[in-house]
Amino acid sequence: MTEIKKQFPEGFLWGGATAANQVEGGFDLDGKGLSTADMVKFVPKDERGNGHALDVTSEEIEEILAGKSKARFPKRDGVDFYHHYKEDIALFAEMGFKTFRLSFNWARIFPNGDDLTPNEAGLKFYDNVIDELVKYGIEPLVTLSHYETPLGLTQKYNGWASREVINHYVRYAETAMKRYKDKVKYWLTFNEINIIAISPYTGGGVVVDRVENPLEVSYQAAHHQFVASSKVVKLGHEINPDFEIGCMLARMETYPATNNPEDILLAQHQNQMNLFFTDVQVGGYYPGFIKRYFAENNITIKMEDGDLELLQEYPVDYLSFSYYMTLSVSADPNRDQTGGNFMGGVKNEYLESSDWGWQIDPIGLRVTLNTLYDRYQVPLFIVENGLGAYDTVEADGAIHDPYRIDYLRKHIEQMKEAIADGVDLIGYTSWGPIDLISASTSEMSKRYGFIYVDQDDEGNGTLARSRKDSFFWYKKVIDTNGEDLA
Ligand code: BG6
Repeated sequence: MTEIKKQFPEGFLWGGATAANQVEGGFDLDGKGLSTADMVKFVPKDERGNGHALDVTSEEIEEILAGKSKARFPKRDGVDFYHHYKEDIALFAEMGFKTFRLSFNWARIFPNGDDLTPNEAGLKFYDNVIDELVKYGIEPLVTLSHYETPLGLTQKYNGWASREVINHYVRYAETAMKRYKDKVKYWLTFNEINIIAISPYTGGGVVVDRVENPLEVSYQAAHHQFVASSKVVKLGHEINPDFEIGCMLARMETYPATNNPEDILLAQHQNQMNLFFTDVQVGGYYPGFIKRYFAENNITIKMEDGDLELLQEYPVDYLSFSYYMTLSVSADPNRDQTGGNFMGGVKNEYLESSDWGWQIDPIGLRVTLNTLYDRYQVPLFIVENGLGAYDTVEADGAIHDPYRIDYLRKHIEQMKEAIADGVDLIGYTSWGPIDLISASTSEMSKRYGFIYVDQDDEGNGTLARSRKDSFFWYKKVIDTNGEDLA
């Protein structure tokens, strides 16, 4: 019998991932315009319950712009990566990062979104960050749009609801890709593109109180993003044929709660609705099940001649995704519900949950990797995975986070299994290598990092960085290319 080796391939891209609006701060510095993320206010847990605080209404935007809001906006401040990037990148280098996933804040480069020329000072910041990464031999992986649409585009066009935005996005992508054509090889066009159907404001800068049929508009906006993404794949390969341009899905592997065929059908439907996005971006087509869903839900997508051909001709080079948890669904409306990344489901009695109710499922990552590879047969890249948890700083300054190490270890073990199953996995960037502002709740206390940042939910703290136990553990994982996970 031949022995199958359970090991990571040579050159595997180990690293970490962040988003501009969750780390940078400097929201109004050097000519940056406002973005949708700058309008998301902090809502304390007792007012929010277990839900998200992500969506913003027209009224709130007007109130904020008129200077009448008393709210705090943590994503404006992040963890001040804007001024700490050298120190932070040095710490990533110390852990041995091969890659670092960052996003560009579109409004830093095109302050209103539809400007004809870019803001040179904004580009200069990214010049510095990219050069710093290159200095340490860290491969930058750039997300062009991660939950931050320039507010100007939201106000003028209702964000991605309008087809107009495609041209502005392509101009922005062209500017970035030409500028960094010899320094950045890996690109992602949109973070978690499927979130537009769940939170249109977050995913596409669409304010839902301005439209009559929000569901229809969210899928219309997704269509615009698909077209924009394919245009950028085409353009990017013209700029540099060696570019690797990927899509990014919030993968939500969904299990049936029982073997009742009703539950199985429901789970299959939910998986299809999630994989619809990669069917378009990787497969290059609108599948039959979505056409039925549109017909039954009063959704008509306006397409232009040539759209479908473009999607087919310019699929992405690789598929990247985030993985935090799995979901379970039941046809029985009386089952207990649990929380999750944008979506919840029913409780899975075999799984434990994080402090935020996200069901921890390392084996589900192996299932996910196999599902995606079976369906698409393209290289896969896990660009987010991690545990949001409360950390305690000991009297001597140490931060012991065995729960985080345990979560990551178990997931990395399952990645190895999936590679042995034949999956082509090219990299892994854990979410939030440095503590940052939570996307869904704007909390600071929901920490993912190997690097602790001294800041609390109210924005108080010195912003000093320190190494948690997991910092030394991850360094060892990278040093041994995933061999030593102890
Ligand atoms: C993903 C997002 O959905 O999950 C990230 O791409 C986000 O931006 C991450 O931070 C974790 O979610 P949260 O809500 O815990 O920050």
